[in-house]
Amino acid sequence: MTLDNTLTQLLGISLPIVQAPMAGGATTPALVAAASNAGALGSLAGSALSPQTIAERVSSIRALTDRPFAINLFVQPIPSPDPSEVEQAWQRLAPLHEELGITPELPRQWCQPFEEQLETVLELRPAVASFTFGILEPHQCQRLHDAGILVVGNVTHPQEAEAWQALGADAIVAQGAQAGGHRGTFIGRCEDALFDTAELVEACLDVAALPVIAAGGVMDGYGIAALLAIGAQAVQLGTAFLTTTESGICDAWKQALLEASGETQLTRAFSGRFARGLPNRAMRILEKNEASVPAYPIQNALTGALRAAAAQRGDADFLSLWAGKGVARIRPMDAEELIAVLAAELEQAGGA
Ligand SMILES: Cc1cc2nc3c(=O)[nH]c(=O)nc-3n(C[C@H](O)[C@H](O)[C@H](O)COP(=O)(O)O)c2cc1C
Repeated sequence: MTLDNTLTQLLGISLPIVQAPMAGGATTPALVAAASNAGALGSLAGSALSPQTIAERVSSIRALTDRPFAINLFVQPIPSPDPSEVEQAWQRLAPLHEELGITPELPRQWCQPFEEQLETVLELRPAVASFTFGILEPHQCQRLHDAGILVVGNVTHPQEAEAWQALGADAIVAQGAQAGGHRGTFIGRCEDALFDTAELVEACLDVAALPVIAAGGVMDGYGIAALLAIGAQAVQLGTAFLTTTESGICDAWKQALLEASGETQLTRAFSGRFARGLPNRAMRILEKNEASVPAYPIQNALTGALRAAAAQRGDADFLSLWAGKGVARIRPMDAEELIAVLAAELEQAGGA
């Protein structure tokens, strides 16, 4: 097995490792640059950032590295929810707001404007733009290519791999059910797109000829080697980077990850879209009304004040503690050191 392949050459990276984009504060410019400087592909999660903030973060990344990196966005329209549905969902959060002693105002914005974010990415010209939660329009993919930007689409089902291939994407991320954070499903039901990571890689390779980046539950170089052995050309790790020194998540979340037993749960109660994380008190309370939770990004915006207050107080009971199934094997260290350890394990596993 060799570490050098079509994808690593295309991306201009020396290791077949991608530091996952992670909305929620983890992917600081320091983390992205450290990952890229260590030979992996660093990724900035841009979905929750305004176009101007994306530009500022990219300028900070570029001050720290001249290596390739990715910017990731959620492909999502701005919703127009029914006001009464919003009001009911907001009322259901009142006891939690009271318990935390906060009186937040109803959010004025449900999500960042995707099309404006995309314009900013086109202007910034990162080496790679990656997308989840949906698929681009053909003209958007064409404009990215015209700007010399590689296009990577996240998939949770082989049908989605076919869709990105038909669009002309350069690679796909095969997001297995073990993955931490939100499910990227955009065709069919999330419940029908919960493939084991290795099974999804194989199923995508069966239907699509483009390079596959495997994601979900990988915490060490041996796991990377196993997925390369079945045909993945790189492996994307998220949870493993959450407790790096450079990760920007709050201390209470880091501590909860370090103490985690390994139990994780898929829930749509926090955001309106299925996501995997550590079970906690807020998850249990919010799940009582899971069936009536408004769709993403509405519930996500509605629970924003709650999660921000919990982060400020260091209260892990009210945070959304996103984590993948491999969380019990998390190792706190610098990102550069983590990538060196991953590379050494990969070599030991016969991957170099
Ligand atoms: C905290 C967190 C936030 C995430 N945010 C994003 C995101 O913004 N965009 C995205 O494409 N994937 C996101 N993901 C999913 C990752 O890209 C990747 O699929 C996942 O981390 C892989 O599984 P692992 O966490 O077990 O390594 C997120 C994952 C986590 C844990």
